[in-house]
Amino acid sequence: MFITLEGPEGSGKTAHLPPLAESLEQQGYLVVVTREPGGTPIGDEIRSTLLRLGNTAMHPTTEILLFQASRAQHVQELILPALQAGKVVLCDRFSDSTLAYQGYGHQTDLAELAQIVRFATGGLQPDLTVLLDVDIEVGLQRRSADKGNWNRLDAKEAAFHRRVRDGYLKMAADEPERWAVVDASLPIEQVQEEVRAIVSRRLAERR
Ligand code: TYD
Repeated sequence: MFITLEGPEGSGKTAHLPPLAESLEQQGYLVVVTREPGGTPIGDEIRSTLLRLGNTAMHPTTEILLFQASRAQHVQELILPALQAGKVVLCDRFSDSTLAYQGYGHQTDLAELAQIVRFATGGLQPDLTVLLDVDIEVGLQRRSADKGNWNRLDAKEAAFHRRVRDGYLKMAADEPERWAVVDASLPIEQVQEEVRAIVSRRLAERR
């Protein structure tokens, strides 16, 4: 089963993955935790180029294609083999990040973008996507408190981040059978428990 975590900046996705993986392993699942951009050595090289603060000359088209290059490698080298081996793949961001950031955020044509994404993934879609939703002021405040992790995409203006969040909420509303929305402004233990419950329930339904 392929599960993705999505959310705007500072939603805390990354902090929730290790405890979620641990809880699933305790239930007997074989779990692979990974992230985008990155997830493979080639993907990590692309990730450094994408997130480097100095790369201000990067054209939006280049940005879109680099995310898809990282993703194509990730799907072929890591995600598909893990799924074929019956593992649960937990991925920190996937295609929906491209639609949210490059599509809704940068206002690139969504239909065109969806085609490029499909080419990169070969049509692979998550079975479940958990959206950790948080107000952008709260999210950006959390991110800027974490100085070492401040990257080129965090540095975009507030209106951009607002479009990203609204885009996520729209995608979740349009496809409720795949998405689950969790209020990430709640205390971390509560968010963690909710994410764990959603994922366990979905896995049990599949068995
Ligand atoms: P990262 O440091 O992993 O941020 P986060 O903890 O918020 O996931 O940086 C990833 C950044 O890349 C983040 O700002 C979202 C952005 N992104 C896109 O714009 N498009 C994409 O397709 C993906 C996968 C990520």
